Amino acid sequence: MKTKVQTGFTPVQATLYETLAGRALDSRARRPILGDPTAVDTVRKIDFDFSRLRLGSGLVTQVAVRARYLDKAVRGFVTAHPDAVVVDLGAGLDARIFRVLPPSTVAWFDVDFPAVAEARRQVLPDHPQARQLGACLTDPWWLDEVPGDRPAMVVADGLLPFLAQEEIEALVDRLTRHFRTGELAFNGYHPRIAGLARYLPAMKRTAALTRSVPFADPYEPESWNARVRFVEETSLAHVPEVALFPPAIRLGTRLAGRSSTLSRSSRVLRYRF
Ligand SMILES: C[S@@+](CC[C@H](N)C(=O)[O-])C[C@H]1O[C@@H](n2cnc3c(N)ncnc32)[C@H](O)[C@@H]1O
Repeated sequence: MKTKVQTGFTPVQATLYETLAGRALDSRARRPILGDPTAVDTVRKIDFDFSRLRLGSGLVTQVAVRARYLDKAVRGFVTAHPDAVVVDLGAGLDARIFRVLPPSTVAWFDVDFPAVAEARRQVLPDHPQARQLGACLTDPWWLDEVPGDRPAMVVADGLLPFLAQEEIEALVDRLTRHFRTGELAFNGYHPRIAGLARYLPAMKRTAALTRSVPFADPYEPESWNARVRFVEETSLAHVPEVALFPPAIRLGTRLAGRSSTLSRSSRVLRYRF
């Protein structure tokens, strides 16, 4: 058997293990929501005891369903704009390009810290359209590597809470100045749930590392930047994939879906610029 890859990630970088493990567990479920076999292969290649994460099925379904809806946003954009560039911010060890399968004319950039970009090169299969950029997102240089004259799909899965509010706004400002036009899609929690997360066993490890508080009003990002316009909010408690959740999680999600606050506890948001 080949030697496993050592990573030495910082705590923030190591949050990628949870989302990766979530996709791997979903892929092995009887009725997968996302169905990402690359995640299973990736887990096998890393020297890390994933069992110690003790991911519950609630987190697994959340990770899978939000990735599915972010993939859908990216797929829709690259279908409408085959000349697009896709930028996956805080890509972790996610192999999104292999799920989306964009037209061959699309250029794809995965951005994460240098240690994560290096690990991606070691454990993920190469893709001829994808480039790995190893950078801290708050550094401006990496955007110079991405063509600004093509429509841009910017996706961020599980990233924003790890940036401070002023860093998020500075990043959005740089993105909207760099690209003529594009879309931004990310997942978010309701602020009440984010507050609660610090006490929930399944979420408190990650919640302790977060630096910004999510917003409740989906129009709020319009106040971050004059070019940003709200397009769509998808409440993950109301999507048809809830039928695939394990029974207890399904029941809890359906009950939560009746409350206007709880139904927005986990959502995918889309903006145009
Ligand atoms: C919860 S993980 C999600 C990873 C991936 N999107 C996924 O769904 O598996 C958060 C990711 O954001 C990255 N990240 C956080 N802050 C960052 C920053 N300032 N610059 C670059 N990457 C960052 C971490 O390294 C980590 O890979």
